[in-house]
Amino acid sequence: MQKVLEDYIRMCYDGFLQGWHERNGGNLTYRMKEDEVADTASLLAGDRHLDLPIDASPLAGEHFITTGSGRYMRNVPLAPQKNIGIIRIDDDGHGYTIRWGLEDGAKPTSELPSHLLNHIARMEATDGRCRVIYHAHPANITALSYTIEPDAKTLSRILWQSETECAVVFPEGVGILDWMIPGGTEIAEASARLIRKYPAIVWAFHGIFGSGADFDETFGLVHTIEKAAEIYLKAKGAGIVRTITDDELRVLAKAFGVKLNEDFLD
Ligand code: 13P
Ligand code: ZN
Repeated sequence: MQKVLEDYIRMCYDGFLQGWHERNGGNLTYRMKEDEVADTASLLAGDRHLDLPIDASPLAGEHFITTGSGRYMRNVPLAPQKNIGIIRIDDDGHGYTIRWGLEDGAKPTSELPSHLLNHIARMEATDGRCRVIYHAHPANITALSYTIEPDAKTLSRILWQSETECAVVFPEGVGILDWMIPGGTEIAEASARLIRKYPAIVWAFHGIFGSGADFDETFGLVHTIEKAAEIYLKAKGAGIVRTITDDELRVLAKAFGVKLNEDFLD
């Protein structure tokens, strides 16, 4: 199997092993590089066409690997052709063709509008580096969203203070979107506005969207955020008596050569 598909499938199953993908929860999209499209050319025979409810014209002609709606991450390695697929965005950006996979009438994830608008936002924010958008349902970051107001400063400070290396991994902070109905255009547009500023955003009472240049970076980002949330909840349960100070965060950022989002420091 082509390496890009192997790497994609590994990430799906890694997320399942972490417990982030109960049932069909979560979804993953990857914007393929030209050489990866060329490597998979022999597979790309499908012509099933579907419309998009959004304007994805900045992604015209791009190929994405996507998980199927209602499909289980747990099953991706067993039958990739049924649970994931490759789509090509139309030249006008208002629809796409399923070129491979998603067999038996499956469709791409119901969160495809959020994925594509997030891809556009992160592509623009990272000079085209971002290729991966990942949605997962990790328990700790979701639980944490019940304990705070939906405010990026509050959330980012908690996470930065909950594991020393967080501020180095996501110096921009993490955004948070208040509860909305999933699967639609409205949540997609709100997510894209927010993810422009942060590499990851939490959907309150639901889960997280992470982004990155490759599978390792994206999985690692979500993993780091989820671990910090777990540490925070454990420390909060035990009783927090002290934490990393803002001055320590500044010294840390300097030592690692990253630019911390100053709006979130006091
Ligand atoms: P899909 O099965 O359509 O990908 O939906 C899962 C999910 O997590 C929705 O937010
Ligand atoms: Zn979800």
